[in-house]
Amino acid sequence: MQKIAILTSGGDAPGMNAAIRAAVRACAARGLASVGVRRGYNGLMENDMQPLGARAVANILQRGGTMLLTARSKAFMQPEGRALAAANLRAASVDGLIVIGGDGSFRGATALSEEQGIPVVGLPGTIDNDIWGTDHSIGYFTAVETAVEAVDKLRDTGASHERTFIIEVMGRHAGHIALDVALAGGAEDVFLPEQPRELSEVMRVVEEAHQRGKASAILIVAEGHPGGGAAVQAAIEQATGQQTRLAVLGHIQRGGRPAVGDRILASRLGVAAVDALIAGQSGVMLGMQNQHIVQVPLRQTWENRKAVDRAAYACLRVLSV
Ligand code: F6P
Repeated sequence: MQKIAILTSGGDAPGMNAAIRAAVRACAARGLASVGVRRGYNGLMENDMQPLGARAVANILQRGGTMLLTARSKAFMQPEGRALAAANLRAASVDGLIVIGGDGSFRGATALSEEQGIPVVGLPGTIDNDIWGTDHSIGYFTAVETAVEAVDKLRDTGASHERTFIIEVMGRHAGHIALDVALAGGAEDVFLPEQPRELSEVMRVVEEAHQRGKASAILIVAEGHPGGGAAVQAAIEQATGQQTRLAVLGHIQRGGRPAVGDRILASRLGVAAVDALIAGQSGVMLGMQNQHIVQVPLRQTWENRKAVDRAAYACLRVLSV
């Protein structure tokens, strides 16, 4: 193993830069060359790669986004796209590839390694935390922190006006962000895609909160719950005649300085990815389970669905009494 390429793919996530830095510096420490691929798989197909030395990744640990840029590539979903990418990697004498991204990126990484025999190691990078086989993905801690900060602010104004606030958070088809934001933000209730609820139930939630002496309420809705926050708002307003406010937090959850948890996770996994490639591993994702780095077959990371934590959900219901 003499040269490793690194790319970021899919939605950006805070901490991706920390993972790039760790992988590049691990290459330097182990005497390998490293190259950065721009715009995810598109850069592989367009041969858009640049050598990266240890100094080239200075001062990015604390920055959100990804210095390598990112994209979701349709062309790479076709075998022809992957064949072109593999040919470019071979022509550039790249011996191994590190893919930092989410489940869509890992589907592509699995195909590249299985069809083309390119040694590939994946690192989980998505705010959604929906990757099976790792307790957390890079970016998740920051996204939750950002959303909770917003919830705290919305609670101030909600309490002052005795209003119900519906707050929609990201997560695509998963409710991990919503559940943790609800717990950490002291929400009255949460709506998760994994447990779709009848919107007629919503009225009861708000009325019961009122009966318990709560003048205002915070409801967290995952974007993947049927209809998102707007449907929950419409159901409440229709059923109670009450005016509510909806805040859709959106892409601010993807930006900002990475939280400490994401920096540490990214740094640990970035170094481990280089060592795994040197050791001859391929077609695996490196994740963290119970504070230990683990290797999980890439295919399993997207074939399985990571469940939301039922105990955390039960805890929320106790706390919102
Ligand atoms: O996967 C990360 C994510 O931010 C999801 O939470 C969200 O559904 C999606 O990406 C948004 O994608 P885009 O940046 O294309 O709007």
